[in-house]
Amino acid sequence: MSAETIKVLVTGASGQLGRALFDTLPPGVEWLKPERRLDITDRAAVMRVVADLKPALIINAAAYTAVDKAETDAAGAYLVNQTGALNMAIATQETGARMAHISTDFIFNGRSSVPYQTDDAPDPLSVYGDSKLKGEQAVRSVLGEQALIVRTAWVHYPAGNNFVRTMTRIMRVREEVRVVADQIGSPTDAGGLAKALWALTVQGATGSYHWTDAGVASWYDFAQAIRELGAKARPQDRWARVTPIRSEDYPTPAKRPHYSVLDKSKAWNLIGAGSHWRESIELRIEDYLDPASG
Ligand SMILES: NC(=O)c1ccc[n+]([C@@H]2O[C@H](COP(=O)([O-])OP(=O)(O)OC[C@H]3O[C@@H](n4cnc5c(N)ncnc54)[C@H](OP(=O)(O)O)[C@@H]3O)[C@@H](O)[C@H]2O)c1
Repeated sequence: MSAETIKVLVTGASGQLGRALFDTLPPGVEWLKPERRLDITDRAAVMRVVADLKPALIINAAAYTAVDKAETDAAGAYLVNQTGALNMAIATQETGARMAHISTDFIFNGRSSVPYQTDDAPDPLSVYGDSKLKGEQAVRSVLGEQALIVRTAWVHYPAGNNFVRTMTRIMRVREEVRVVADQIGSPTDAGGLAKALWALTVQGATGSYHWTDAGVASWYDFAQAIRELGAKARPQDRWARVTPIRSEDYPTPAKRPHYSVLDKSKAWNLIGAGSHWRESIELRIEDYLDPASG
């Protein structure tokens, strides 16, 4: 980005990533605020708001993220994640803006045992994963490789409802918390993701990138780290023991990949690596433990 102000429109501004993007807004970037929440599924409203506000950059952080609910509400998931993404891409193209779009590790089937490259073949296991894949394809169908598509995973932020929030709550009221140990991925602080998105857009990156915190974990490892860091910060609280279980012992409506670690080297070569996921939790743990937060 040059010294002149860049106007940015972020959809999904009330979500975890939207809040984190606002909290990490770099100098020289102007945050455009539509009069009311822009429903990305409403093509006419999208076209009107984008034409009025004239953003130079659109970041589509809006999404239908209820992974299990999507299994019985496929129409709702595709409407937001596919049609909504398409609408944002069309508005981007018609106004000559640039677009960054966010996608997910859930586009992969998890049968790999090495980190997924950006050009590995997708094969989603769930409605949510498929709707997000269709969203990527919709964006590319309009903007081609000019769009920046960043896939991420296991996102948490103190402003949102997420695994860290749930664990820090239930671990202090239960004796035992059972957590699946056979799904491996990378927890990701939305603040680090937001900074990466700003850095990538500043560099003018286009095409597909992966971004998560560094390091890998099972949900069980993730829970253990939350417990350790939480107990260190609040030793006076009672903390549940964490027991590893298999996915089949915790059935959910949506199937999830067993292994969804993303290879970040393309992004790391351009903007450097992010924090290790455990450092991110250490940084944020007080915000999760503070009853006034969230
Ligand atoms: N959370 C994760 O673990 C995770 C993992 C991988 C990828 N991702 C991707 O990362 C991105 C950000 O996720 P997040 O964690 O920030 O999600 P989030 O906290 O659930 O926020 C989603 C946002 O989208 C908005 N939204 C939903 N439907 C909309 C619509 N029709 N029009 C406009 N806004 C709409 C929501 O607003 P309302 O609340 O007002 O509806 C909310 O602000 C998404 O693309 C998601 O697919 C997330």
